[in-house]
Amino acid sequence: MKTLPSIPTSSPFTEAQRLWLNGYIAGLISEADDSPPVSSKPKLRVPVMYASQSGNSEALAESFAGQLSEAGFDAPCFSTEDYSEIDLTSEKRLILVSSTWGEGDPPDNAIDFWNALQSDEHPRLENLSYGVLALGDTNYLEFCAQGKAFDKRLEELGAKRFIDRADCDTDFEEAAEAWFESVRGILAKEQGDDAPASAAKSSHAAPNEPKWSKKNPFPARLLMNRRLNGENSARDTRHFEIELTGSGLSYEVGDVLGLYGHNHPQAVDELTALLAFDGDSIVTLTDGESMSLRTALIERFDIRTVNRPLLEAWARITESESLQQLLADENDASAVEDYLWGREIIDLVAEHRPRFADPSDFLALLRKLGPRLYSISSSPKAHPGEVHLTIARVGYEAHGRRRFGVCSTYLSDRVYPEGEVKVFLQEAKHFKLPGSLDTPVIMVGPGTGIAPFRAFLEERKATEAPGLNWLFFGNPHEADDFLYREQLEELQSEGVLTRLDTAWSRDQEEKIYVQQRMIEAGAELWKWLEEGAHFYVCGDAKRMAKDVDDALHSIVAQHGGKTETEAASYLSTMKKEKRYQRDVY
Ligand SMILES: Cc1cc2nc3c(=O)[nH]c(=O)nc-3n(C[C@H](O)[C@H](O)[C@H](O)COP(=O)(O)OP(=O)(O)OC[C@H]3O[C@@H](n4cnc5c(N)ncnc54)[C@H](O)[C@@H]3O)c2cc1C
Ligand SMILES: NC(=O)c1ccc[n+]([C@@H]2O[C@H](COP(=O)([O-])OP(=O)(O)OC[C@H]3O[C@@H](n4cnc5c(N)ncnc54)[C@H](OP(=O)(O)O)[C@@H]3O)[C@@H](O)[C@H]2O)c1
Ligand SMILES: Cc1cc2nc3c(=O)[nH]c(=O)nc-3n(C[C@H](O)[C@H](O)[C@H](O)COP(=O)(O)O)c2cc1C
Repeated sequence: MKTLPSIPTSSPFTEAQRLWLNGYIAGLISEADDSPPVSSKPKLRVPVMYASQSGNSEALAESFAGQLSEAGFDAPCFSTEDYSEIDLTSEKRLILVSSTWGEGDPPDNAIDFWNALQSDEHPRLENLSYGVLALGDTNYLEFCAQGKAFDKRLEELGAKRFIDRADCDTDFEEAAEAWFESVRGILAKEQGDDAPASAAKSSHAAPNEPKWSKKNPFPARLLMNRRLNGENSARDTRHFEIELTGSGLSYEVGDVLGLYGHNHPQAVDELTALLAFDGDSIVTLTDGESMSLRTALIERFDIRTVNRPLLEAWARITESESLQQLLADENDASAVEDYLWGREIIDLVAEHRPRFADPSDFLALLRKLGPRLYSISSSPKAHPGEVHLTIARVGYEAHGRRRFGVCSTYLSDRVYPEGEVKVFLQEAKHFKLPGSLDTPVIMVGPGTGIAPFRAFLEERKATEAPGLNWLFFGNPHEADDFLYREQLEELQSEGVLTRLDTAWSRDQEEKIYVQQRMIEAGAELWKWLEEGAHFYVCGDAKRMAKDVDDALHSIVAQHGGKTETEAASYLSTMKKEKRYQRDVY
């Protein structure tokens, strides 16, 4: 708020003279001031909170808060991690944007908030009116589960919805903006704004929108595709180098690269043959663009994933009794989950043959082919103008058919060096090296989880960071699956990598995993934590990250002499202080 210059009470003027002079000065200033008149209306307060793992909900919440502030609302933006900074019992309004992770779980930054909200002791929220925007992915059976859970719990606590929740799929941008338009309309009315909501729409974020983005990816040159496993390995993990020169794109270690792949042409041809479509026939997409059906299926549509909405549509179209039976019990998700395991659209077509009058009726059932995200495995300081990735090629057999992951096989097999790949950058605010170069770091990254830690180590070397670095790495066999072995050994001999603990899961009869190595080194690990080390985990979310978290709890309890509750609280504080960070998928 602007403060006007004025004559203080300590001046030699009489009180009457002082008041007159202050009025005169204010008049002069307001005549000369060409800024818009300051509204005397009190600002409506609308805090915006986000529960976010990979930044989508966070970016939306920041944009919503920015637009509301520009439209004259008092709209601070909070992470659910900082929930103690906001007293919901005294707030009147709240916008909450939440994604869902794991299998219907809250993102890491929302775990404590969600636990607090669920507690029987949580105070009632009768004065609060709220709106929830949920982000998720219909490929997960627990679609938008956390957003739904927040919505339900706030209602149970007595809060009133001022707008119905919207559940958004992976292409959430348009649906989120439409939901926010309605929010803005409701709030503008409440504030008594005369202008229609659409007129109040500000240009927030538009002027700074980067040239290359998820919507408009950069056509980058693939420079290198190198297999990292030995020839006897059953795994196929690749090292890719991509050129960013000329794009204006920049990143930090810890960030993620988004990449658009193409479906395998052979898979498309098999599908069109089964459906008795002509791949050369021309189709017009919803955005008005026309192309051959074959091209549309290769480049634009997800032809692999069967999710519940698609299964329901298929059951209707084919009038299949077995599918209808499978879907009948909405409360038993496990039967659907079992059926979907390893099945793709081509299996549905083969097992429950539909009749489509026109290919466009089939296309109308498909989701857009979305990008895949990859943890960046290079430091821009070590490789200016380049970005490196470490990707496991997904190939497996299911229900008698050979299957290929879309993006990992596109990059591995169908784009040649010098070829073009469409990429965009996604900042990972939740996965950053410590601000201080002196801070020690502990990294746990089995399999492709090594990716961001190669980048971290390159960065620590390039910045000559004196902080100690400890890496836990695991893979099936030492001889063939020791990814980046030479580089890691060199970093060790240079003193950059202080300690490397490896877990070769299949080099002996009993499986050995990284968490076992952590337990073995528990006393030392605890010492590092007490000295302020940051702890990072990357890789498989379903099993590894959970087991590593359990191991960390038991190390803190055993070596810190703590109860289970105290150990949980120790790690929760580490998370709040951003000393325990995860990039898991
Ligand atoms: C933030 C983030 C960072 C990531 N970083 C990396 C990284 O650094 N390196 C990396 O390799 N990946 C990474 N991933 C995973 C990556 O985004 C892709 O999910 C992965 O490459 C598979 O994509 P795809 O298109 O090749 O396969 P898709 O076509 O998407 O197929 C994958 C799907 O196939 C099915 N499937 C896979 N294996 C089997 C099996 N054995 N049996 C039955 N079904 C199976 C599963 O449903 C799986 O979801 C990351 C993901 C996220 C969210
Ligand atoms: N969510 C996902 O879609 C996802 C996530 C990660 C990996 N994958 C898929 O898995 C394949 C390879 O991925 P990757 O290279 O990253 O390796 P990975 O499968 O994560 O395996 C890396 C190492 O971790 C071990 N491991 C298995 N279970 C573990 C656990 N509970 N705790 C700790 N370590 C454990 C593995 O041992 P064993 O294999 O010997 O048991 C292996 O030695 C790819 O096909 C990839 O797509 C999928
Ligand atoms: C490992 C992983 C697990 C996920 N689990 C779910 C889930 O159970 N249900 C769901 O609807 N979406 C799930 N998603 C999708 C995310 O919610 C979605 O990508 C969202 O846009 C992420 O938003 P954020 O960046 O704000 O966290 C999952 C995504 C990943 C990578």
